[in-house]
Formats: sequence, structure tokens, C-alpha cells
Amino acid sequence: MTYRIRVPATTANLGPGFDALGLALTLYNEFQIEEIASGIEVLGCDEIPLEENLIYTTIQKLFKQYHHEKQGVRVIPHHIDIPLSRGLGSSAACIAAGIAIANRAMGEPLKLEDMIQIGTALEGHPDNVVPALVGGMVASVHEADQVIYSKINIPKNLCFALMIPDFTVSTGEARKVLPEQYSKKDCIYNISRTALLVAAMGNGELEKLRYATGDRIHQSYRTKLIPGLEEIFQKAQSLRSKAEVISGSGSTLMAMIERDNTSFEQEMNIFLKTMEGGWQIKILENDDKGIQIYA
Ligand code: HSE
Repeated sequence: MTYRIRVPATTANLGPGFDALGLALTLYNEFQIEEIASGIEVLGCDEIPLEENLIYTTIQKLFKQYHHEKQGVRVIPHHIDIPLSRGLGSSAACIAAGIAIANRAMGEPLKLEDMIQIGTALEGHPDNVVPALVGGMVASVHEADQVIYSKINIPKNLCFALMIPDFTVSTGEARKVLPEQYSKKDCIYNISRTALLVAAMGNGELEKLRYATGDRIHQSYRTKLIPGLEEIFQKAQSLRSKAEVISGSGSTLMAMIERDNTSFEQEMNIFLKTMEGGWQIKILENDDKGIQIYA
């Protein structure tokens, strides 16, 4: 038996919602899965040792946990469009795919809620893995062994410009540059903006997004890891972007733009060519399906 699995890229934080908000995007990794007699094979990933391959390790952990030995899987990458270590949820996509592949091979003992919980435990935070599994924009809370999440409506006339450089930022490094403690003032700053962001999205109030995406928890500390950020944000604003944020922990930058802002892509592209860093632009939509399995 052969089937395909498609998992979306995700952008986390969206400014103030550090480790809490995430959004699935129309950029995908797609794999072909073949059922084999036993074991786990992941093809086409020769540069990375298998024990560091998140699809492999996720399937392996679940097979072990569920004492599954009967039927194995061969994972063949079909389209790999989510770039690695760019703040677009490539790790979460591999974890989500690994869980879904293992679940199917084991006869589907896991419900969606179990998959969300396992994915969050493996990733360490829910903001990428939950939208990768369920699609859309999602607010998630990880409490004890549970993940509680809720989907957020986003305006139909909003789309997302992703400025992706050729350099990577490791999430581990980008978390190390953050302080251990924050002032009450900074906490209130982020709480109020996260609340405003969720409400403004739901109400389609694009003019409020600039205020709602303000952040004092992570972005200013990470700016030094992303040369060109300030210039690109400034250019995006001059091209009528509604808000600019770091995508996840970077290195990708994201501008929220109106769908009819058709000149943004071309103008930004011209600008990016003048910058160091091999920047490219992709205009993406919100993916509202999350992980998909095709027969
Ligand atoms: N919320 C995470 C962070 C996303 O910003 O560190 C990166 O995976």
C-alpha cells in the first residue's frame, strides 16, 4: 500500500504571541509512504544521519512506545519546499509527518488530540506543531500533559509575504539570546498586544495589526541574528504592509499584506536583490487544512 502525506510550513509567534500563536502557510513538504514488511526507511536524506532525522526518530519513538513491530514504512520525499532552520516550522512539519505516518502504520490508535500532545512534547512548544496538524491560525496553551488550542479566524483579504534569506538561524541559539526574566511592563506590553492581535484578526481590522504585532519578549533580542531585518521591515512598511514580524525564531521575515497589494512582491523583490543574504520573497496564503493524507 502506498499513500502520500502533505504537511504545511508554519510561522510562529506572529509578533507578541511567543510560543503561543502560529499559522499554517501554503508551502508544503510532501512524502510518499510505502508499507514494507518491517523497519523504518527514510530515503533521500543522506546528508543527515538517521538518528538526527526527525521523521525517522519520531516514527521510531512511537513504534517503540506502542510496541509496534508488525509493519514497517518507507518514507520517500516527494516535494521538500519548506527550507530548514529559517523559522518556517520545518522541524514541526517533520514531527507532524512522523506522527501521522507511525499512526497509520500502527492501525490509527492515536486521535488528533493525542497527536497534538505528542507533537508538542517532542517539539517543546506548540506554536508550530499545532497549526501544522490542524491548519489555520491557532492559539495554543501547553499545560501539564495537555494542549488546549483554539483556531482564530483571519481576514480573507490578508496574505503573507515571506522574505527568506539563504542564511539559517538555529532555534536553540535564538532562544539562548532571550533573557530569563522580563519586567512587568514588558509582560503587559505583550499580553495586551497578543489579545489585540487575536481580536483584530477575528474582526478583520487590518489597520490595527501594526499596533497588535508589537513585541518586547523576543524580536529585539533576535534582530542581531538577522542582518538586514530593519531595512527590510522599513521597505515593507513603505510598500503598505500592515505589519512586519520575525517568522518564528528567524531567519525568515514576514509582512502581512492585503491581497490586492499586487505591487508588493515585485517591488520587494527588486529591493531584496540590493541586499546581502540571498533574500527571496514568497507570497503565501493561510493553509486551513493542516496535515493531509491522500490515498
Ligand atoms: N516560538 C518559538 C521561538 C518558535 O520563537 O523560539 C521557533 O520554533
